Amino acid sequence: MNKKINLDHNLYILNKKEGIYMITEDLNLFLSNLNVFYRKLQNYHWNIIGEDFFNVHSKLEELYDEINKQIDEIAEHILSIGQMPLGTMKDYLNTAQISEASNEKKCSKHIYETILKDYNILIENVTKIKEDADNQNKYSTSALMDEYLVNYEKIVWMITQLLMNKDNNN
Ligand SMILES: [Fe+2]
Repeated sequence: MNKKINLDHNLYILNKKEGIYMITEDLNLFLSNLNVFYRKLQNYHWNIIGEDFFNVHSKLEELYDEINKQIDEIAEHILSIGQMPLGTMKDYLNTAQISEASNEKKCSKHIYETILKDYNILIENVTKIKEDADNQNKYSTSALMDEYLVNYEKIVWMITQLLMNKDNNN
């Protein structure tokens, strides 16, 4: 009888450990995407051309400043759950789903269409983290993801509205 209890307990510890590794993997994927996205947004901030330069140039700065804060928050959250965040550019480029921008001049339509896709990738990351965290009773991770979901969904909505307007004008 005692043996059975111990076995169940060990299995519980094992599942819990595996759960934490799965959440850490999800968080590191998200962290990698954030890092590549930060560089991409600043690249666009530098290379935007066109009559809406001033608006888009400063909007992109606002967006990458926000992403930069999120990079720090996610890395420190990984540490707070006793795990190790990825910390090199090599790690991020090997892991990320978001691709870098090339060193070329870009118009705002191209930029907004591209970052709309990227924000949707971030929403997928955050949703998966939340689902896995809920399954493992990691409520701090799950609660943190709520803020990100609200933030990204609002940005996606705004960019979608803006592109509709652009399509109508063209
Ligand atoms: Fe700048």
